[in-house]
Amino acid sequence: MRKNFFIFGIALLIITFAIYLLFDIGLIFMAVLVVLLLVGYANSVQHKHAILRNFPVLGYFRYLFEMIAPEIQQYFIERNTDGKPFSRSQRSLAYQRSKNIDATTPFGTQLDINQSCYEGIKHSIFPATVNEELPRVLVGGPDCKQPYSASLLNISAMSFGSLSENAIVALNKGAQKGNFYHNTGEGGLTQFHQQGGDVTWQIGTGYFGCRNAEGGFDAEKFEQKANLPEVKMIEIKLSQGAKPGHGGVLPATKNTEEIAKIRGVEPHTTILSPPGHSAFSDTQGLITFIAELRRLSNGKPIGFKLCIGKTTEFEAICEAMVAQNCYPDFITVDGAEGGTGAAPLEFSDGVGMPYEPALIFVNKTLVFYGIRDKIRVICSGKIISGYSILKAVALGADMCNSARGFMFSLGCIQALRCNTNTCPTGVATQDKMLMKGLVVSDKSERVFHFHRNTLHAANELLAAAGKSSFADVDINIFMRGDEFTHLADLYFPDNLKSVTRY
Ligand SMILES: Cc1cc2nc3c(=O)[nH]c(=O)nc-3n(C[C@H](O)[C@H](O)[C@H](O)COP(=O)(O)O)c2cc1C
Repeated sequence: MRKNFFIFGIALLIITFAIYLLFDIGLIFMAVLVVLLLVGYANSVQHKHAILRNFPVLGYFRYLFEMIAPEIQQYFIERNTDGKPFSRSQRSLAYQRSKNIDATTPFGTQLDINQSCYEGIKHSIFPATVNEELPRVLVGGPDCKQPYSASLLNISAMSFGSLSENAIVALNKGAQKGNFYHNTGEGGLTQFHQQGGDVTWQIGTGYFGCRNAEGGFDAEKFEQKANLPEVKMIEIKLSQGAKPGHGGVLPATKNTEEIAKIRGVEPHTTILSPPGHSAFSDTQGLITFIAELRRLSNGKPIGFKLCIGKTTEFEAICEAMVAQNCYPDFITVDGAEGGTGAAPLEFSDGVGMPYEPALIFVNKTLVFYGIRDKIRVICSGKIISGYSILKAVALGADMCNSARGFMFSLGCIQALRCNTNTCPTGVATQDKMLMKGLVVSDKSERVFHFHRNTLHAANELLAAAGKSSFADVDINIFMRGDEFTHLADLYFPDNLKSVTRY
């Protein structure tokens, strides 16, 4: 290939030169040819890239196509029901609800509803009246002094660092307008999260925002921020579905001077948070830490977020809570299908329990230990429509968080570049030029509308199921497959029989 390239290239150069001498034209073409031949020569003698060594100029097309593959896939190949992690239909729904325009579809379902993966809600022939008020849930167990009335749908944890400044500000302003909360993510509470919206402050293993010089937990710094009026709840992050057992990852390209200053780390280096907490290392320690955060925050709701792995460990936490008579105010169950800014593929594809069995398990376990009424269960994992909200509630959630749903409302096109700092929509980048594309005043309205219209759709579905309150929904409103199997019979039918209670 290399030989052909040079033979053909040099022959073309000679012909072009002759044409130039005879007719005085082709100078620019000749210059381009010379540049291409030089680039080709450089590529043919380098040792790093086999394709460029063999195809010194044409080889660049491979890199170009690789770069625009997600766009080609999305614009030319994808059908409505294709697209991963979210199908085109799901994304369109989120865009339409965010823009507050008609979100109906014509002609009927495009799903193959006779396949065994089909699932649906059992509607009632006596529908209830659709509630126009958006549902809220009071969070605060027996030891909570400042309970918080939360919306049924909220913004899931995404840090400043993972998302741009404009994205965080738009999310927070949208949350303020719609009266729902905005989870800071593990990157800490920043001025961009303090735009008037309610905040759940997440504390990850890096303790960003309440971190001492050794990288451990600093109680004094925590106390100052936890008592800010906009901080309504505090969430200890144990793990997240996209990378359970792996700490947070902030790629060097996104670790700007500003972010490094906020987090107290070296700029322009990849920041890997440890997989586990240094403030505690076992079940008892976790519960003591919850009690300490509650004391330091003057009784604000304290919870933890996890993706379920070993079910026995969660059962042990419940046993210890009962033994110490100390409970978190909420538990966030994140499914293994959850999103992330950056994670090793092995962790995204092969670790952790999906939200459906995890939620059923957590709900059943809390009921078994007689502590379900003390703890609110929050669920995240591809919550994007009214249907997914109703399903989560039916499986055992009191409330839901959505991360990527709200990213779509900001204009995310699922370009799959959150880890490269080149997000074309300015959502998941720290590049100031790209960020400018995201206009806060417009996108905060979309965040507000996405929340309101999605919850309204959930209200409509609730009424179609013949129910007036989400508290009346249980797992039996769902059917799955051509045999209409009850989801309740599918997972953990008697998983807790062997557990001994204290
Ligand atoms: C860009 C991005 C950044 C995230 N950052 C965090 C984080 O800092 N802490 C955390 O607990 N989860 C984080 N997550 C996970 C989400 O909070 C959520 O649990 C998960 O994506 C499931 O929700 P979804 O399916 O609605 O996206 C992040 C997700 C995304 C997409």
